[in-house]
Amino acid sequence: MASDRPQHASDAPRVAVVGATGAVGMSLLQLVEERGFDYASFELVASPRSAGRTVEFGGAELVVREIDDVDFGSVDVAFFSAGTALSRIWAPRASAEGALVIDNTAAFRMDPDTPLVVPQVNASVLDRRPASGIVANPNCSTIPLVRVLRPVLREWGAEQVVVSTYQAASGGGYSGIGELREDARSQLAGPPYSVPVKEFPPGLAFNVIPFIDTVLDDGGTVEERKMAQESAKILASPELDVTATCVRVPVVNGHSEAVWIRTRRPAEREAVIAELAAQPDVVVHESTDPVSTPTPRHNGDPDRVHVGRIRVSEDGCGVWLWLVADNLRIGAALNAIQIAELLREKGKL
Ligand SMILES: NC(=O)c1ccc[n+]([C@@H]2O[C@H](COP(=O)([O-])OP(=O)(O)OC[C@H]3O[C@@H](n4cnc5c(N)ncnc54)[C@H](OP(=O)(O)O)[C@@H]3O)[C@@H](O)[C@H]2O)c1
Repeated sequence: MASDRPQHASDAPRVAVVGATGAVGMSLLQLVEERGFDYASFELVASPRSAGRTVEFGGAELVVREIDDVDFGSVDVAFFSAGTALSRIWAPRASAEGALVIDNTAAFRMDPDTPLVVPQVNASVLDRRPASGIVANPNCSTIPLVRVLRPVLREWGAEQVVVSTYQAASGGGYSGIGELREDARSQLAGPPYSVPVKEFPPGLAFNVIPFIDTVLDDGGTVEERKMAQESAKILASPELDVTATCVRVPVVNGHSEAVWIRTRRPAEREAVIAELAAQPDVVVHESTDPVSTPTPRHNGDPDRVHVGRIRVSEDGCGVWLWLVADNLRIGAALNAIQIAELLREKGKL
């Protein structure tokens, strides 16, 4: 039985997902079902390549549409995850037609009229509907970072944060995952290597690549700048000095980060553990046994930020920790849906 518009409770929002066939979009659809996020109607939007295809969702076969065919005047909330260029053009149009946009791309994150939201950290910025009609979802590595930085900042202050990321292939979407798998098969088979490398030059399998996104004039990368600027905006700490080195690693899904924080006041390890463990959906792994330490392959609950290897320097002002978080869920789709849930709670959706 084919129907392309499932109907639910009448006060529930009418939803569109732009980029619905992508890695983030598919995670979002899964989370809508898992969390029982209610909706009055549901539109799936992707590129002309996918238009007309059907996707099973909510007990129905939904037909994927092109964005030109969507009436955003009949949509209450539109999740965008189809790239920055598309959001720059279409998010303001969708919002002008009346939809509230929750944007997963980098297009509006630093726009002063657009709140950049991690519900566990700065929910109060959504007390008013955003002036731009857009709520921005932060970068996938920024979200778990600020969720552990917030309690440390509040309790002990921070002079400097130094972070090295270990980012998975799924950060490059479905094509990134496919390329890692093909490249790994080709490397294992031995030369001549037949797989053209597009997403991750010079090739990610059995390699690590210390560049993500464009390199800037100062030698840093756009990804590294995003982590610094977005963290300061979300934590409302413009003076916060965050410096990052972002590295792509041959992991299918799940980003890891090694974080060092120079605090203003001395902290005790037990107190740091207690503060982090008290954060919503943060799990502290105290064991130093390698099998119990969080890794992307053995991440446990994918909807929690997993923290391990917490250490404090002798003077108490240096805190080290290791974190692992599912980039497609925590770093993108889950945060986006939690923003929508928060807007519902606040009566803004
Ligand atoms: N992957 C992550 O961990 C992550 C985390 C945070 C944020 N993001 C951001 O989220 C966005 C999507 O990432 P992804 O990993 O899901 O990428 P992806 O797997 O490549 O998916 C891209 C999606 O965008 C759609 N699309 C492409 N061109 C379009 C167009 N002209 N009109 C409508 N839809 C179009 C694609 O449709 P087709 O299937 O038809 O091509 C697909 O559904 C990116 O901006 C990315 O930076 C990703």
